[in-house]
Amino acid sequence: MVSEWRSRAAPWPQASTSIPSPIRLSLTPQPARQQLVAPDAAGSPPATDIWGYDGRAPGPEIRVRQGTRLQVAVTNRLPAPTTVHWHGIRLPVAMDGVPHMPTPPILPGASFTYDFALPDAGTYWYHPHYDDSEQLGRGLTGALIVEEASPPVVDRDLVWLLSDWRLDRAARIDERFDALIDVSHGGRLGNTVTLNGTIPDTVAVQRHERLRLRLINAASARIFELAFDGHAPVVLALDGQPVAAPAPVERVVLAPGQRADLLLDCPHEPGGRFAVLDHGDGGVAPYRLLDLVYGAPIRPAAVTAPVVLPPNPLPIPDLAQAVPCRIALEGGAMGNLASARLEGETLTLANLARRGRAWAFNGVVGSSHYHFDAPLLMLKVGQTGLLTVVNETAWPHPVHLHGFPVYDPAARQWRDTVLIYPGETAELAFVAEHPGSWMFHCHILEHQAGGMMGFVNVTP
Ligand code: C2O
Ligand code: CU
Repeated sequence: MVSEWRSRAAPWPQASTSIPSPIRLSLTPQPARQQLVAPDAAGSPPATDIWGYDGRAPGPEIRVRQGTRLQVAVTNRLPAPTTVHWHGIRLPVAMDGVPHMPTPPILPGASFTYDFALPDAGTYWYHPHYDDSEQLGRGLTGALIVEEASPPVVDRDLVWLLSDWRLDRAARIDERFDALIDVSHGGRLGNTVTLNGTIPDTVAVQRHERLRLRLINAASARIFELAFDGHAPVVLALDGQPVAAPAPVERVVLAPGQRADLLLDCPHEPGGRFAVLDHGDGGVAPYRLLDLVYGAPIRPAAVTAPVVLPPNPLPIPDLAQAVPCRIALEGGAMGNLASARLEGETLTLANLARRGRAWAFNGVVGSSHYHFDAPLLMLKVGQTGLLTVVNETAWPHPVHLHGFPVYDPAARQWRDTVLIYPGETAELAFVAEHPGSWMFHCHILEHQAGGMMGFVNVTP
């Protein structure tokens, strides 16, 4: 896939001295039409007007080797400003894609080249950070795969990027983005789940085949709980970061923004058919995402060699010296937030709702991507921060810190997006590696828009 895409990249002048030379790509966010729902004989439903990178949703898969320096020339052909955020990547803040923090957004017709190295292997993704609910809701997402220096041997390495669209009967995208009902409840849940941009039906596998499945939840709000009927997928990595002791799981929980790398061995007879089900809707009947359909054996016997991914070269948090910071997640429907501060003004929940807001961190409603609310935490480069995040609301929140992977000492796992259920607390430790103002927000995009965003400031 990458060679096909690289060949379409715009021509660039030769680099003179830098070693290794960067990989140069171009990416053009633009309106397009895409058939999300397979049409019936009468051609209904029609294709959907989307926004996509290079005119498709998801955009092209970017797949490079760990240690690569990437230069991505982005030309904005949308009718709105945009940015590209490289979710989960350790990079300088100017390349992080948060508008005005400090790089301004890319205006319609303008271009900007993102230039950064990829220090860590794993499954990442890219998306805008400008009017996120609308721009992701219209289709702007894509996979960023960073391969290990020597990747584990599998038969196929597949990306499954999951999106959740809210369509009407004519397959048009519902344009009521950031509706207050979605902001104050569980976010913009859609009615059409796609895998790599189409509604999947079956995925063909072979007996004794070994797959690496890279799941990416690019939905605005939907939390998937996937069960692989008849199979025991082994979790190799979460949010790109290897799991120390890979083990089979019954269900793969994937909140917005999160990724999981699975090792899927296919033990069944040719002709077998096994559902992949989403149990994410709580008590409601599970939703069938697709069926795995078996073909002829790929080899006479199953492969049994264990797979363990090498850890990434992350700076190790110094928990003994960590600077603590408690963050209470507050607000939302059925919550107990009476009032909170927005841009210095104390407002009741009802008055916040009139301004499209419903959520707060420690009594402060995040106002915009670039409004200078007091930072949640201030650190110097090299210091360890320890966020204790307490969910005091009635809703689950997948919280995401930009720039620095976070280590959960209890789970002994690195991640970049941590799902916290009502009443639960999570500890996130990280080393402040690069200076800048780094966003911390809920990855349910309507919660972010409704106030669940803040910053961690790092000074040299
Ligand atoms: Cu994928 Cu600020 O997020
Ligand atoms: Cu949330």
